[in-house]
Amino acid sequence: MTGSESAQEFYGRWARLYDLIARRTPGIARLRERAAAACRLEPGDTVVEMGCGTGANLPFLREQVGPEGTVIGIDFTRPVLERAHAVTAEYDNVHVLQGDATQPPVDRGDVPGTDSGIDAVLATFVVGMLEDPAGAVDDWCDLVGSDGTVVLANAARSREWYAPPVNAVFRAIVVLSTPPTAQLRYETDPHLRLDEKIDAAHARLHERAVAVADETHIFGVVRLTGGRLE
Ligand SMILES: C[S@@+](CC[C@H](N)C(=O)[O-])C[C@H]1O[C@@H](n2cnc3c(N)ncnc32)[C@H](O)[C@@H]1O
Repeated sequence: MTGSESAQEFYGRWARLYDLIARRTPGIARLRERAAAACRLEPGDTVVEMGCGTGANLPFLREQVGPEGTVIGIDFTRPVLERAHAVTAEYDNVHVLQGDATQPPVDRGDVPGTDSGIDAVLATFVVGMLEDPAGAVDDWCDLVGSDGTVVLANAARSREWYAPPVNAVFRAIVVLSTPPTAQLRYETDPHLRLDEKIDAAHARLHERAVAVADETHIFGVVRLTGGRLE
């Protein structure tokens, strides 16, 4: 089984539980609201969410673009997409597509349901699962083009003074929430490898864009970076 097949199998099996965590973790709704705001969207804009999972961000994005805008969620795991589809069924301008976030089924100048380009890309808790996170960020920056916005949010080890107990809990969550055949799960310190990937992705966004948001949330464990392309 390849890494991506294993991830799909894992998230597919745990879709309902993941959805509960994705919506009910203390502080997570505020983070999703901030991430959507950092996309700097205006009514009528188009936003693409990479690895949208069960769709917890999609209503926040819909709120930003309004009824005239377009929200597209992309994920490669069918059962989580079914959940995303159900929670956004009331909106006719929110679309969920099955596809690979590293080869998204959307084109810069050709977005289904709209005649404009893509104004923003959001990816929350996704880049740590990609082979080449910095490369994916490059592609997403190219996808939005000049004056577009890319926003990343990811859980990594806390650097706050109260970090040790928070990081111990974080390490356990990383092991439990990593697909069992993924290399990460068998490494002695999977959270360090995850940190490297997340650092690489956020650093690439800083290189490519002008920062519009740089924040930490949920006891310093979640990093939010937003960048506007010039
Ligand atoms: C930890 S979940 C995060 C879901 C959502 N972004 C959220 O904030 O709740 C990671 C999601 O990324 C998806 N994913 C991972 N790699 C992907 C890829 N290459 N293409 C599309 N989806 C991917 C998984 O299927 C899973 O739904």
